[in-house]
Amino acid sequence: MKVEAYTEGEAFQAEKRTVFSTEWLPLCAAAQLANAGDFVSATVGGWSVIGARDKDGAVRVLRNACRHQNMQVVAAPSGTCESFRCRFHGWTYDLQGRFLAAPPPVAPKERTPDLDLAQLSTVVASGLVFFNVAQRPAALALTEPAAAYGGTLATDIACNWKVCVEHLLAEHASSPDFTWVWPLLAIRQAGSVTVMEQVVPHTFLRTRLFTHVFGAAADEQKPVAATIKHACENLQTKRAAGIGAAESPLVAAFHARLME
Ligand code: FES
Repeated sequence: MKVEAYTEGEAFQAEKRTVFSTEWLPLCAAAQLANAGDFVSATVGGWSVIGARDKDGAVRVLRNACRHQNMQVVAAPSGTCESFRCRFHGWTYDLQGRFLAAPPPVAPKERTPDLDLAQLSTVVASGLVFFNVAQRPAALALTEPAAAYGGTLATDIACNWKVCVEHLLAEHASSPDFTWVWPLLAIRQAGSVTVMEQVVPHTFLRTRLFTHVFGAAADEQKPVAATIKHACENLQTKRAAGIGAAESPLVAAFHARLME
């Protein structure tokens, strides 16, 4: 891959159109939205979204873009609330994204469906919440982890998301103990423990890694997460210097998929 693919925002914008606008993207562990009113917000592949559990028990993923002036409604990365109040001019939405009210000076003249936050296709599978911005996405088939949720680690890494993916893939060969879920999820099985490494592309040079652990305490994975961060930041420096990824069958398959 060219150096620019790892170092420039233009490439990231192209990936937003070609990859992140068509594929199922993981957002969080379903257990992070255990109770009514729990929410997470994140920018994944250029899409600012909110995942929330409503009082009816359903999990929905919404565009985090206010219908008043298209600003980001929720800034906190997670929390619990009754409704979402836009921090700019006070439009409020319920947990399903439905418009509730606005202060009189900025209130819409009439109530119409396009005042609601855009709701995205949402699936809970393998203990994770996925969303897809495509109108009619293909089905997502994953197997549920058998073990109980043990927690999630968040690791911020100063690298392009592809560097992180390449690193995770280069560490593994195709085997029943390792599954790559295109484009942003690696699943490792170690005995009764399942570790899901979720790559969150924030910007072209900022990536967050969520390590979701099932069957053990998440803290046990802290040394691994620290190693991944160190390795990826070193690899980013190499990519910027024109040193490409070490090829392995999984990395080659990743690059081929990117080129489709
Ligand atoms: S942009 Fe949200 S209320 Fe104005």
